[in-house]
Amino acid sequence: MNVILRNTREADYRSDALILPLYEDEGPAPHQDIDKALKGLIGKVLTSRDFTGKQNQLVLLHTLNAINPRRVLLAGLGKRTDITAERLRQAGGKAATHLDGMGASEASLSVRSLLSSKTSPLPFIEGSLLALYKFRRYRKENTQNGLKTLTVLGKYEKTFHEAIKWVEQVASAVHFARDLVNTPANDMTPAVLARIAKELAKGKLSVRVLERADARREGMGAFLSVARGSAEPPKFIVLRYNGGTGAPVALIGKAITFDSGGISLKPGEGMEKMKYDMAGGAAVLGVMKAVSEAKLPVNLLGILPAAENLPGGTASKPGDVVKTVGGKTVEIVNTDAEGRLVLADAIGYARRMKPAAVIDMATLTGACSVALGSEAIAMMGNADRLMERLKKAGDETYERVWQMPLFEEYLEYIKSDVADLKNTGGKTGSLVTAGYFLREFAGDTPWVHLDIAGTAWVEKEKPYVPKGATGVGVRLMTNFLREAK
Ligand code: BES
Ligand code: MN
Ligand code: ZN
Repeated sequence: MNVILRNTREADYRSDALILPLYEDEGPAPHQDIDKALKGLIGKVLTSRDFTGKQNQLVLLHTLNAINPRRVLLAGLGKRTDITAERLRQAGGKAATHLDGMGASEASLSVRSLLSSKTSPLPFIEGSLLALYKFRRYRKENTQNGLKTLTVLGKYEKTFHEAIKWVEQVASAVHFARDLVNTPANDMTPAVLARIAKELAKGKLSVRVLERADARREGMGAFLSVARGSAEPPKFIVLRYNGGTGAPVALIGKAITFDSGGISLKPGEGMEKMKYDMAGGAAVLGVMKAVSEAKLPVNLLGILPAAENLPGGTASKPGDVVKTVGGKTVEIVNTDAEGRLVLADAIGYARRMKPAAVIDMATLTGACSVALGSEAIAMMGNADRLMERLKKAGDETYERVWQMPLFEEYLEYIKSDVADLKNTGGKTGSLVTAGYFLREFAGDTPWVHLDIAGTAWVEKEKPYVPKGATGVGVRLMTNFLREAK
């Protein structure tokens, strides 16, 4: 969907539907002229309480040529005193989904109720853009019907045009990440991810893809062990964006293109969903895309350890011991705890580049979704200030993070009898013992781990997140990086 800005009166601009966002129990207040042109229809719908304006409520009215828009869509924002950016995002998502579903192709938006010190049209528009994502790659009827343009009515300054552009860039990066994650593992192999990274980089980023032999030379024994059971060659993808000064922030994304569990095979039920085990990597690519398009003044490294975790005659076995980039050895007691293995080498590799900070995003543990559902990212780390900033970015974008502890006692859980560490800490505390394991590889580098296992995929849609891949992490990190400096 395209977003256009036009300085035309709402009643005069021709569209399939004019969206009128309204607060609860306030009457047609800011839209008296339109109500009057419609002979009091809006007021009538409100006094009859067919529409009250409660959050996410929608009522569609035909205008019978009384004004130029063919319809008016009343979109409830809830009580004015309760308004937040998230509520606006949701209302925008609901309105856009509704119009898209009924076959409207052009909508216009009145921003009268969205201009105040606490509100802005931006989140409403952002929600509309995010909601309209569809994954149609494998449908024979790949129709492109639906909402094509949203015309935002009013007179705006240049800074608003720029702000809209950023919202569009971020939304398009979210769509890009969702596409990567929704694509099944037969078409989203490590090699495909590497090709996409190169495509993305053209002219804006530098990329280097370490092949198996390169990874061996780098000493990435843990990363390589995960790929051993698969015929798909692993790819260790490194992107670089230079837009600022100083040491880069390294963003690492777990990119297991399919996680069967390996020899410690997962149960068959729901295994098809394990194509989403590269959602961290997809988010990192989405962030690199938005940041490079918007030319943010930051330096970034994007690192995707990409591999497929399958059982097989050459697969690694429980009890195997591998050596990581930094020299520490790991006993693989469970081949299904593969994420922390590839991340251990990725963190070790990142540290060689002397980054200012390392942030990893990973669908790391089932325990993460048990603990937090799909409402929050679990955050652990060794850098309080960095975590505070991520917390703020999470609250602003509603990709919320919730900190979990890394008590030193957890070290006992992951001590091995034969190697420096083992790759699982047993049944209890598995969200935090996974984090603690990673911490052992971060050393004194400021580092934060974001477990997105619960948030990267939703079984039930939300107002601006369709069912399936969510693209989580893209809005969180782009917001964080834009406010860096
Ligand atoms: N990719 C999974 C975690 C996961 C599970 C993500 C469900 C999304 C939904 C990860 O590789 C894994 O298998 N973790 C194990 C670790 C265990 C063996 C210590 C887990 O959490 O069960
Ligand atoms: Mn696993
Ligand atoms: Zn996994």
